[in-house]
Amino acid sequence: MTSFCVAALDRAPKTAGGDGATAGVVTVMGRPWRLRSSWRAHAEQARNDRIILRMGDVSMGTITSTLNYLPDRYVELSDAELDERIQQAKAKLGSRVVILGHHYQRDEVVKFADFRGDSLKLSRLAASRKEAEYIVFCGVHFMAESADILRDEHQLVVLPDLNAGCSMADMADGDQVEVCWEEIAGVSDSTVVPVTYINSTAVIKAFVGRNGGAVCTSSNAQKVMAWAFSRGEKGLFIPDEHLGRNTGYRMGIPLDEMVVWDPHQEMGGLSEEAIRRARVILWKGNCSVHQRFLPQHVKKVRENHPGIRVIAHPECRWDVCQLADDVGSTEFIIKRVTEGSPGSQWAIGTEIHLVKRLAKENPDRTVISLDDCGCLCSTMYRISPQHLCWTLESLVEGQVVNRVRVEDETRRWARVALDRMLEIV
Ligand code: 13P
Ligand code: SF4
Repeated sequence: MTSFCVAALDRAPKTAGGDGATAGVVTVMGRPWRLRSSWRAHAEQARNDRIILRMGDVSMGTITSTLNYLPDRYVELSDAELDERIQQAKAKLGSRVVILGHHYQRDEVVKFADFRGDSLKLSRLAASRKEAEYIVFCGVHFMAESADILRDEHQLVVLPDLNAGCSMADMADGDQVEVCWEEIAGVSDSTVVPVTYINSTAVIKAFVGRNGGAVCTSSNAQKVMAWAFSRGEKGLFIPDEHLGRNTGYRMGIPLDEMVVWDPHQEMGGLSEEAIRRARVILWKGNCSVHQRFLPQHVKKVRENHPGIRVIAHPECRWDVCQLADDVGSTEFIIKRVTEGSPGSQWAIGTEIHLVKRLAKENPDRTVISLDDCGCLCSTMYRISPQHLCWTLESLVEGQVVNRVRVEDETRRWARVALDRMLEIV
């Protein structure tokens, strides 16, 4: 049973170096609850207002603002009406808007994207489309934040549904990372270079920028990690344990020289000796969609489809990636399948919308999900045609709904970390 209650946002006290921004704490029935960091921007928008917190999901950080709800009038529209209205709004906005769509978006949304891509391609596009006033990002919150960090002053970024977060990004909280950083420094004299996967909040990117590190994506993690090792002896890889391990291993770092820092345990659950010995410290975070793929899925698909090639996204577990024929980003997966020969068979370990689209667009090839059921990224799925229609029509009327805006100081340092990545690759 899900119960609902109304909560009020607390404000953090102004500290010497702080800006008095929302601390990410809400008070519910007199008790403070910490919000996951990617919800803070959202909470910031709802400040001084009421927010509705689903008690059943508090640990998941589910929080919904009473502001910016999809108006009822959009819910009743037919698919055909939605298509027509989105097209009309897009045409009216012309070159003032650019719509970016991640490969995991639904077909009925991604068909309106001016550009589709993986995280790296979309970051580059966000940084280069200077003529557009509005960047409408059909993806998840950290992607829209990255676009906001890279945008020009005259631009703004819209995420059609602000509830489209990323559970992996939520697994690394700014305060937890600061504690980890201090504790590592307390036991090791080595120079540690932080690297954050782009699937992280702007706060984490800013931390990395301030501390001499860089952002990476699934398609450039190895280059960025190599860069990190040219600057220090150790890498701290946040927040995806699997991408960090898969990348380190590909670079020849033995598994026993990579340790996992659990932010919920004292000293990350590690001994001082383990921290000193480690070459890579992996943050204990993962993607719930990709972590579901298991070695037995690879075995079964090979038994059922002799000759099939298995491609895994690097957010999959290490043992799955070891068994796969290829490992790579969404853009890489698309390239491999489309460049494959007619009649070829592919089992893909990634989000189901991309797998189904690849199957539909390549009818002369067999393209199936690595497991039987196929995993959906429920937050990517939040971007609906209704939300896209609403945000575009609002822009036509001169109203900006669901803007994603990274606070100035965070933006400045996060930009340093993102720019370093864009220079490395
Ligand atoms: P890509 O950069 O490979 O598109 O991955 C983004 C993502 O969120 C995968 O889960
Ligand atoms: Fe985040 Fe996983 Fe969804 Fe990618 S697939 S956006 S990592 S939850």
